[in-house]
Amino acid sequence: MFNLKNDRYLRAILRKPVDVTPVWMMRQAGRYLPEYKKIRAKFNNFLSLCKNVDIACEITLQPLRRYNLDAAIVFSDILIIPDAMGLGLHFDEKNGPIFLHPITCQADVDRLPVHDPEQELSYVMNTIRMIHKNLKGEVPLLGFSGSPWTLATYMVEGGSSKVFNKIKKLMYSEPIILHKILNKLTENIILYLNAQICAGVQSVMLFDTWGGILNWSAYREFSLYYLHKIIDNLIRTNKGCYIPIVLFTKGGNQWLEDMAEIGCDALGIDWTINIGDARRRVGDKVAIQGNMDPSILYSSPLRIEKEVETILKSFGKGSGHIFNLGHGIHCDTPPENAGIFIESVHKLSRIWH
Ligand code: CP3
Repeated sequence: MFNLKNDRYLRAILRKPVDVTPVWMMRQAGRYLPEYKKIRAKFNNFLSLCKNVDIACEITLQPLRRYNLDAAIVFSDILIIPDAMGLGLHFDEKNGPIFLHPITCQADVDRLPVHDPEQELSYVMNTIRMIHKNLKGEVPLLGFSGSPWTLATYMVEGGSSKVFNKIKKLMYSEPIILHKILNKLTENIILYLNAQICAGVQSVMLFDTWGGILNWSAYREFSLYYLHKIIDNLIRTNKGCYIPIVLFTKGGNQWLEDMAEIGCDALGIDWTINIGDARRRVGDKVAIQGNMDPSILYSSPLRIEKEVETILKSFGKGSGHIFNLGHGIHCDTPPENAGIFIESVHKLSRIWH
């Protein structure tokens, strides 16, 4: 149906019948895998992995060689957009991402460029084209971007934050400046995701990792509004195939009904909500992706199976579920436990279809 050997992911998003529930893991390509660590050790910074087309392609494929995953996700990072916008990103071993030129004033905002992604981010599109060739239609390839709000938090805070005081101060005291940042980001993200789609990704995911730190009206004004604008402007079919969109707002469970209204095809949910309740609340508007606590992968095979079973049972009969973790896999997860998780989803979900 989608010119793929395994089209479970795309079928499940469109709530068409599947044999078993498809499964993939956020951050599936990365630090918990010994084969990733081996490559990582040869490079002194993480960004140079993302910018090396052969390496980024290889890392994307690593988890697919190990596990029976139903989707691949391009190896990259959400922060390469602000990097391309001139903020000078580097990754510190201890503190994570750091911007050398964070946004501190109106003049910084005025300087932010809108880019042609085939120029500044050509390495991502070249990686996508290469992965596409190597995947040989086995499973769909997912592209992604951070949400404007989530990217703005890093650009204003200058890196990761626990309290988000700089961005919240800006939001409550200079909302017009923040809207200017979010508008520039929205323009760049639309161009970037459309370039990813033209290069060959078969679905896109929007990571709104920090939407959940907002109150309801701020979430609507500073995050959801821009996500809606992005979705309205994305290319929705490529080479005759529909391109589904997944929206994940971590901590956004209280707003699922509103998130389901903006034209996405699936909602990613974290583990703090019962997936059956989420399904009932969004009805037949969208599919659901999620939602096992990644920390369960620290436990035993039996405990992992039990949790998979509970989630499958909560979701209930029928299609419309893409099994995933409720957030990215932790870097100290035993790789064999990730394997048990994926096998359990396939084995235990058959009876629900
Ligand atoms: O899912 C995948 O496997 C694709 C690759 C991917 C990465 N980051 C690779 C990565 C994706 C989809 C992301 C998204 C991302 N990046 C998000 C949104 C999703 C989420 O987890 O909430 C965010 C907030 C970031 C920003 C980011 N990147 C941080 C805060 C850090 C440092 C801390 C950490 O989590 O490792 C990164 C680095 C990063 N991105 C690594 C990887 C594999 C580790 C870098 C290393 O190996 O040194």
